[in-house]
Amino acid sequence: MAVPPRALPSWNESLVLGAHRVRETIYRQVQWTELRVLPFLEAKSMQQAPAKTIRTDFTDLMGIRFPIINAGMGWVSLPKMVAAVSNAGGLGILGAGVQPPSVVADQIREIRELTEKPFGINCPLAMPNAVDNAKLALKEQVPVINYSMGRGDWIAEGATRYGGKTIASVNSVKLARSAQERGADAIIATGYEAAGHAGEIGTFVLVPRLAELLDIPVIAAGGVTSGAGLLGALALGASGVSLGTRFATATESTWHENFKKAAIERDVHDTLISEKFGGSPNRLMRTEQAEKILRSQVNPFHALLYSFQIAREMDIPLTRVALDAVRQGPKRVFEMISMASMQRYNKLSFEGDVGQGTVHAGQSIGLIHDTLEVAEIIRRIITEAEDALARLNGIFPERSGE
Ligand SMILES: Cc1cc2nc3c(=O)[nH]c(=O)nc-3n(C[C@H](O)[C@H](O)[C@H](O)COP(=O)(O)O)c2cc1C
Repeated sequence: MAVPPRALPSWNESLVLGAHRVRETIYRQVQWTELRVLPFLEAKSMQQAPAKTIRTDFTDLMGIRFPIINAGMGWVSLPKMVAAVSNAGGLGILGAGVQPPSVVADQIREIRELTEKPFGINCPLAMPNAVDNAKLALKEQVPVINYSMGRGDWIAEGATRYGGKTIASVNSVKLARSAQERGADAIIATGYEAAGHAGEIGTFVLVPRLAELLDIPVIAAGGVTSGAGLLGALALGASGVSLGTRFATATESTWHENFKKAAIERDVHDTLISEKFGGSPNRLMRTEQAEKILRSQVNPFHALLYSFQIAREMDIPLTRVALDAVRQGPKRVFEMISMASMQRYNKLSFEGDVGQGTVHAGQSIGLIHDTLEVAEIIRRIITEAEDALARLNGIFPERSGE
């Protein structure tokens, strides 16, 4: 018997069906263990205590209460911030950056003194010292290793042996697929809005695409600062969010007060993205220095000289730099040199020189209006997410007759 053609839904019905799907997606991903589905007028107020846990496949995998992580930010997410995020129910990630393993070992020890909760370490593998830091993390059995800019199969293998987890930071479909094939337990999808090495695709498109392609949890990064951002990311299929710029402005962040103040004054247009900031597209806060670099020609000779200086400061033998040049090819090494040579401006940032310094910052800088402690940032995000969910429940009526 022929099946009668299904009548197309009206515009109104489409809206209701769409709303239903939004709710279905969120509830499939998430269980708010303390949150009832409230009609709009019953919405929880900002003053009330937020949900005790928000369960997603990511929180289950990591053994954490909230699907929120701080981006591993070199020289910025140091032990106090990492422990504060983990103690508040998120996943704190140490930004190992290009620090020597001896320093990172002390930082891992310090984190363990400050928290018993799971935490992670970020190793940007193409950067000096990062491979050694990943090996150190395996030796120290750090619960979560977050790597980027390189192959992580050996890290996944090593971490699996002690029950550790790996998260790959990626900014494209190709890198995400390859990370899953190489054993990553989750990926961070870094959208165009993000601070640092942002990809070409915006978070709003990258996250749902990766969520439909991958079997492992997808964490949204780039542009998230608030509870609405968390809820939006979950609705798009993410299992959590990673926040860089928001946590860089936290009380526990090592950013100089001048930069925190500057960040609060900046708007969404006040970042710049260019390959000139270290070899591959890199997003920075708009400062005089960042604009100057954008106008200038990169001088490979100066960059090379400066990278040797950095290598000395980072305890990296110069022979290693030369060997890398042979092994990884001149383009990769030039990228490394350019990235390392940007460190001179970071130094000025730590001295609070907003004009002459540079810092990574995402477009979300325009959404940040205060400096808060990490625990308060997380508490506020959860409360805002609950309020946003209640608001959606008020906007989209329940689908009736089913
Ligand atoms: C100050 C700062 C430093 C960062 N350093 C690193 C880093 O060392 N390694 C890394 O993989 N990403 C780093 N990032 C990028 C973040 O991992 C993340 O992709 C980005 O911050 C997400 O976008 P958002 O800033 O809008 O939250 C940094 C970001 C900021 C703001």
